[in-house]
Amino acid sequence: MGDRVLVIIPTYNEAENVERILGRLHASVPEAHALVVDDGSPDGTGALADAVAARDPRVHVLHRTAKAGLGKAYVAGFRWARERGYDVLVEMDADGSHPPEQLPDLLAALGDADLVLGSRYVDGGRVEDWPAHRLLLSRAGNSYTRWALRLPLRDATGGFRAARAELIDRLPFDEVASEGYCFQVDWAWRALRAGARVVEVPITFTEREYGRSKMSGSIVREAWARVTVWGVQDRLADLLPGRVRPPVPGSGSDSRR
Ligand code: GDD
Ligand code: MN
Repeated sequence: MGDRVLVIIPTYNEAENVERILGRLHASVPEAHALVVDDGSPDGTGALADAVAARDPRVHVLHRTAKAGLGKAYVAGFRWARERGYDVLVEMDADGSHPPEQLPDLLAALGDADLVLGSRYVDGGRVEDWPAHRLLLSRAGNSYTRWALRLPLRDATGGFRAARAELIDRLPFDEVASEGYCFQVDWAWRALRAGARVVEVPITFTEREYGRSKMSGSIVREAWARVTVWGVQDRLADLLPGRVRPPVPGSGSDSRR
């Protein structure tokens, strides 16, 4: 392809995982660069990443001072990447849940898409070793999101993605308020509304072996509240007179009249 690929890996207390995931990434896609975005992890993840970066020019580290959430870490990573001219930006968790061995599938699908979502919930996608309550939360979150936002996606909350840099440039990331995991829904939705070609490819998500999830009640509440507000705003906008909307095929209606 010749594209310069940057894999952005947000970390908070991933000391057991950070070197392992970088090793797996480079075994799978040797030419990719990686950016670890560490929020000052107390367990020393940032220093471990620095040690890898010192011996491997493909590895970079962005140190931030305090835990500010996954969304903010990605926005900082995207900006860092665009300042350096990378063509393709990838999102991937540090804990091994997103298999770097499947990254070539995502990159291949980017051939005719602007955004590729690694999807657990399309045919061929899987979730392994997740406790029942996490699977339920994820399925319920995706169902609610599909309904509230009328989103034609099976897995809008996942965090294993590849995007063309031109798409990132078109989206107003400075306006994105989402701090936690709802950042993923937020920008998938913005991408669709901006007319981006979004495709889902199946992935196998496996529960982490080391360390702990940072999922919390406040992350769930933020996601639920924001998706609800966006959904209500979207429906209210439908009711505004004079809003020009594309005619629904076969409906015989013309909204401009
Ligand atoms: N820099 C930074 N700052 N990194 C963070 C923060 C933060 O505040 N919070 C979490 N991370 C990092 C973690 O260290 C990990 O690499 C990644 O973000 C995902 O966090 P996990 O805590 O492992 O997420 P999960 O396994 O519970 O959630 C998974 O499912 C969610 C819902 O489907 C992930 O795939 C999420 O991306 C996904 O949204
Ligand atoms: Mn995880």
